[in-house]
Amino acid sequence: MAGKLIEINGPLVRAQLEKAVNGEQVSIGQLGIIGEVIGRDGDYSTIQVYEDTESLRPGEEVIALGYPLSVELGPGLLGNIFDGIQRPLETLAKIAGDYIPKGAKVTPLDHKKLWHFKPNSERHEGEKLSGGEILGTVQETESIVHSILVPPNTQGELILLKLEGDYCLDDSIASVQQGKEEKLLYLYHRWPVRQPRPYKVRDHAIAPLITGQRIFDTFFPLLKGGKAAVPGPFGAGKTMVQQQIARWSNADIVIYVGCGERGNELVDILTTFPDIVDPKSKRSLMERTLLVANTSNMPVVAREASIYVGVTIAEYYRDQGLDVVMVADSTSRWAEALREVSGRLGQMPVEEGYPAYLASRLSAFYERAGRVHTLSEQRGSVTLIGAVSPPGGDFSEPVTGHSKEIVQTFWALSKELADARHYPSVSWTESFSGYVNTAAKWWVKQTDQEWLQLRNDALTLLSRDTELMRIVNLVGPEALSPEQRWIIDGANLIKEGVLQQSALDDVDSYASPEKQYLLLKIMMLIYNRGVDLLKLEVPVQELNRLSIMGKAKRCKSTYSSEQTQGLRDFINAINQVFDQLEHTYSENLHKV
Ligand SMILES: Nc1ncnc2c1ncn2[C@@H]1O[C@H](COP(=O)(O)OP(=O)(O)O)[C@@H](O)[C@H]1O
Ligand SMILES: [Mg+2]
Repeated sequence: MAGKLIEINGPLVRAQLEKAVNGEQVSIGQLGIIGEVIGRDGDYSTIQVYEDTESLRPGEEVIALGYPLSVELGPGLLGNIFDGIQRPLETLAKIAGDYIPKGAKVTPLDHKKLWHFKPNSERHEGEKLSGGEILGTVQETESIVHSILVPPNTQGELILLKLEGDYCLDDSIASVQQGKEEKLLYLYHRWPVRQPRPYKVRDHAIAPLITGQRIFDTFFPLLKGGKAAVPGPFGAGKTMVQQQIARWSNADIVIYVGCGERGNELVDILTTFPDIVDPKSKRSLMERTLLVANTSNMPVVAREASIYVGVTIAEYYRDQGLDVVMVADSTSRWAEALREVSGRLGQMPVEEGYPAYLASRLSAFYERAGRVHTLSEQRGSVTLIGAVSPPGGDFSEPVTGHSKEIVQTFWALSKELADARHYPSVSWTESFSGYVNTAAKWWVKQTDQEWLQLRNDALTLLSRDTELMRIVNLVGPEALSPEQRWIIDGANLIKEGVLQQSALDDVDSYASPEKQYLLLKIMMLIYNRGVDLLKLEVPVQELNRLSIMGKAKRCKSTYSSEQTQGLRDFINAINQVFDQLEHTYSENLHKV
C-alpha cells in the first residue's frame, strides 16, 4: 500500500496513507527509512520515525509494509549488537563505517551463515504440532543450545522435518499443514515487539537471581522472573550495577539494553566482556550476552522501540526454557522518548511533561517479566532490571515514583554514599525487596538455618546505627554509652566488611552465596561476642584495638569465593580471641 508524505515534525511525520493500521511498519522515501504508524485519522497516518528525518521532503512515497514492527528470532542473536530496531551494528559498520547510513538495509540476523541443526527425535511426521513446540536444536554458541521453536501462532500437522545437517536461515527445515496451506518453517521466525509472546501459565518465582553482589543477594534479593528498579543520580553507579549483574548473575542469557546513555559505556562492555570468563560455563561472557544499543547520539524515538526489542528477544529465550535477565539503562531515557512524541502530538502533559500513559506503559513493560511454563511445558523466566536516572537525583519525579510502585525489588542508589565512596552506593534505608521470604527458603538450604535471622539482625544493627549517628551529629560521640559506641562499631563492620564491594577488585567483584553468608556471620559474631564482653566490663576501646577488627573488614578481598575454608578458620580464630578475653575478665571480676 503506497501513499505520500505530507508533513514532517522532527521524528513524527504525517502521510496520506489509506488503510494503514495502527502499529504497522512503514518505509519512507527512496532511502526506505523505517517508521511505525502510531495514529490514524481518516486517510491520514501519523508515523513515528526511527531515523533522522532531516533529508525527507513532503511528497515522498510512503509504503505501508503490512506487518507490525517485528524482530527476527533465531540463532545468531547471541554475541551480537543491535540498534533500537534490531539492525546489526557491526555488520552495518563493516559495510558503511561508523555512521549508520540512513535507510541502511541489512537483515538483523545473518541469513547465509550455516548452522548445524539436529531435529528433535521425538517429532514424527504426521503428528499435530502447535506453537512453541521444539523442532530441534542448534548449538548457537559453545555454551548455549538454541531450541528451534514452532512459531507461537502456527499449528498443524507436521509434513516434513529435515534431517540433521547444516542449514542457513533461508533454508526451510520443516513444514506443517495449516488449514489448506502448507507452511514452511525456518530456523528463525519473526515476532511483533509490542505483543508479549504467549506461554501456558505463569508460575511463582522461587529461586533468587544470584548477582554475586552482597547488598543485593543478602539484603534486597531479586528472584528469577522478578522485576527491579535501580534509581540513582548521575554518577551514583547505576551503569556499574547493571554491568555487574550482566557479568556475574546466574542467568543463562543476559540482554543488555543501552537506552539513551553514553555510548562509551557500551564500548566498555564490548571491550571487557569477551575477555571475562563466565564462572558457570568457563567461556567468554559474550557467548551468553547480547546488546541492544541505542545511545544518546542516536535518534530519540528509537529508544522507545529498543526496550521492546530487548524484552521480545528475552521472551524468546525464555520460551526455550532458559532463565534470561534483561537490564535496561535507563528507563528514564526511554520515558523521555515518550514525552518527546506525546509533546509533538500535542497531547496533554500530566506530570512534568510526561503523558498520562507513562505509568501504564511502564507497568506493561515490567509485566513482561515472570517465570512461566512455556508452550512446550518447560520452565523459563525473564527478569527485568531497569535503571532510573531522575533529574537532579530527585526520587519524587514520575518515572522513579511509578517504577517504585511496579517493582518488587528497589535498589535505591544514594548520592551521599557515592560521595563517601561507599560502593555500591545502595541505600539500606531506602531500598526494599518483597522477595525476602521466598529467597530465604533457598538461602537456608544453601547455607544455614540462621540465614534470615542473621540478615535481619544486621539490618536492625544498621538502623540503630542511623539513629545513633543522628545523636552523635548533634551532641558528639561523648554522649554515647559503651554499648551504643559498640553498635556504631558493629554497623561499621557490616558496612565495610559486607556492604561495600568493589567492582574493580578481582577478588571482591563477585561473592558466592557461601562467601556472602560467612562474611555476614563473621561481622555479626564479632558484634555479638563484643556485646557479651561489654557486660563483663571490657572497655569498648579494647575491643576496638583487637586485630581481628581490621582483619574482618579485609576478609572480602583476602579470601575468594573458592577460599571459604579460610573464612571458616577465621571464625574459629575470632572465637578463640573472645574466649580468651572472656576468661581473663571473668577472673578479674571474681577477684574483685
Ligand atoms: N561497585 C563499585 N565499585 C567500584 N567503583 C564503583 C562501583 N560503583 C560505582 N563505582 C564508581 O562510580 C563511577 C560512576 O558509576 P556509573 O555506574 O557510571 O554511574 P551512573 O551510571 O549512575 O551515572 C564508576 O566509574 C566507578 O568509578
Ligand atoms: Mg550510567
